[in-house]
Amino acid sequence: MGLQIQHLLGLENVSKEDISLILDTADSFYEILQREIKVVPTLRGKTVVNLFYENSTRTRISFELAEKRLSAAALNFSASTSSVKKGESLRDTIRNIEAMKIDMVVVRHSSAGVPWFLTQCTDAVIVNAGDGLHEHPTQALLDMMTIRRKMRKLQGLKVAIIGDIFHSRVARSNAWGMTTMGMDVVLCGPPTLLPQHTESFGVPVTDNLNEALEGADVIMLLRMQLERQASGTFPSIREYRDRYGLDLEKLSLIKKDAIIMHPGPINRGIELASDVADSSRSVILEQVTCGVAIRMAVLYLLGGGENA
Ligand code: CP
Repeated sequence: MGLQIQHLLGLENVSKEDISLILDTADSFYEILQREIKVVPTLRGKTVVNLFYENSTRTRISFELAEKRLSAAALNFSASTSSVKKGESLRDTIRNIEAMKIDMVVVRHSSAGVPWFLTQCTDAVIVNAGDGLHEHPTQALLDMMTIRRKMRKLQGLKVAIIGDIFHSRVARSNAWGMTTMGMDVVLCGPPTLLPQHTESFGVPVTDNLNEALEGADVIMLLRMQLERQASGTFPSIREYRDRYGLDLEKLSLIKKDAIIMHPGPINRGIELASDVADSSRSVILEQVTCGVAIRMAVLYLLGGGENA
């Protein structure tokens, strides 16, 4: 049986069955990625456009790699070198690209809701690679995959997500996806970086770091999104680091087998000390490895690929 969803716009309303199918399929692709020949013919003949209106390293490269490893034709669109610079609208851009006969679009945009808007303008399958402050569903899926591979389960684990919650699409997707999978999520950050209406997350929210770390199996630090900050949201970087940054001293207070995660890119020395980021407790690079397998699984399942 395939997915119930036709597009991946977010995880807010994605079922446990769909998330489990994506994670199981990604585990199969992970094994294929350990082989000498990492390419499978499952999306041969399909064309995927990577439509990036915002900067990216991990998401963009791993989607492109996933498309190539599935034998799809992968095309990269970068807003900064396109006719967007001449004023072409998003609707006209996607309709012109669709006229070239494409099958799927992976989109990253600074505005929330753009992936949904594209579903109204094109028949192509849409995959959200991050939309404004809204969602980053493939990041949350790769986070859950990493945790499941490390801890052998998801149900009942406590996850503390710490940092700039207000600006974080990663926090939103993880709060919704992890809750669906039976995990206990707590969001933690300075009061000025917490959303006003936290009830929409459906998980506890606190500004008390010790409370968030207590009993946590997974500690996920978020990037301080300096480019999205209005001035004055916290007194200083130094104060933020002292109160909410994870360093070796605070690491000694958490469970001995708890793992450390970060979606990247890391502000080393702000939300995460270098010696913690590079420690044996960190699974940050494993998250990146899982990202290729998750994106292969999402493209394969939504793209109607043949058996891998
Ligand atoms: N985690 C993440 O989305 O990283 P990039 O912005 O580099 O894609």
